[in-house]
Amino acid sequence: MTRYAHVTGWGMAVPDRILTNEELSQMVDTSDEWIVSRTGIRERRIVGKGESTASLAAEAGARALVRTDLSAGDLDLVIVATASPEHLFPATACLVQDSLGATNAGAFDLSAACTGFIIGLNMAAQAIITGSIDNALVIGSETLSRLVDWEDRGTCVLFGDGAGAFVLQASERPGGVLSAVMRSDGSGGSILSVPAGGSRYPTTHETVSKKMHTIHMNGRDVFRFATRVMAGATREVVERAGLELDEIELVIPHQANKRIIESAARGLGLPMDRFILNIDRYGNTSSASIPIAACEALERGRIRAGDHLVLVAFGGGLTWGALAMQWVAPEAKVPPSRRRRRAVTAFFARVRSVVRRIIRIIEGLIWGASSHTDD
Ligand code: COA
Repeated sequence: MTRYAHVTGWGMAVPDRILTNEELSQMVDTSDEWIVSRTGIRERRIVGKGESTASLAAEAGARALVRTDLSAGDLDLVIVATASPEHLFPATACLVQDSLGATNAGAFDLSAACTGFIIGLNMAAQAIITGSIDNALVIGSETLSRLVDWEDRGTCVLFGDGAGAFVLQASERPGGVLSAVMRSDGSGGSILSVPAGGSRYPTTHETVSKKMHTIHMNGRDVFRFATRVMAGATREVVERAGLELDEIELVIPHQANKRIIESAARGLGLPMDRFILNIDRYGNTSSASIPIAACEALERGRIRAGDHLVLVAFGGGLTWGALAMQWVAPEAKVPPSRRRRRAVTAFFARVRSVVRRIIRIIEGLIWGASSHTDD
């Protein structure tokens, strides 16, 4: 039997707080006119107290799951693509796994900056197609506002927070993920990076005072790189899928800069109405930008069963990639019974997590005491 990997659920979560260009112009020397004309961004979402990469990811994941006939316990794999993880470790994906109650799933974070969601989707799809797993949850989640230098006008106007998730399921029905292109060029790593906090530059007073824990970027170099790779990766992935460009109903590009997307459209000879654009409302949410754009496109009925889609991204690393898929999921509304199930599942996942933590404390006390006794 030939196996295929289909997207059967999708969900997004963004913080309520909107930060407008107008507000930014009171924080740094910039203007709404400059930001809109250079990037297409009008506003972005910013996390508040108590929100984090894991909380956004878990919310998006729960919303995606509720659209499917799966429960969290049916998931074999949880991947969180992120450039702003909750911690260096444990992985954000493990916190999401616990929060959802995905008790049978392996979980790991994927670090490929803004290309992470495409790579995660391809990894999960290949694991499904080869028969290694049946069900996966792939999430792109970011709180880049926590990594931005709010005094650097060259970067702070660009980024925003949010999360988007896809559930992938095995099927015998042809379609789903058709092909992927994954590329990297580490020689360009320094043009977009958060230099400190890892093993190269561990945290010291000096790294903090030099702001080495915030995003450093050479905007012009990134712009040149992005316009070079977007069209090429799209062409290659379409060819690998055995399709022609004019068979692609919709391209869902990484939302980094409207001018970069327009340049890719020109390079491909495709009209802009074939590209999903929502950068005006969210800015660059890195690995979350493609699933968020996909969720909004689905909500607005822009993606229909049978459509051929290309997802294409570039980012720090340097990394870039594209994925072609045929959409087969029905445009189903979530029945109220599933919403109730989500609330019940979330409640039991929380209870389970608390119980497991208590058991761990008790085990620690018992084993700790007995090892002292051994001494
Ligand atoms: N407001 C006002 N002026 C700004 C500004 C801001 N927020 N940010 C930079 N400027 C200034 C610069 O200081 C420069 O001034 P100067 O000419 O006096 O030195 C001028 O605007 C032009 O800067 P430049 O960097 O050439 O602008 P640009 O047209 O390349 O646009 C970016 C800058 C960052 C918008 C653009 O380079 C870009 O989008 N790059 C890609 C970034 C990206 O996508 N990163 C994430 C990848 S996943």
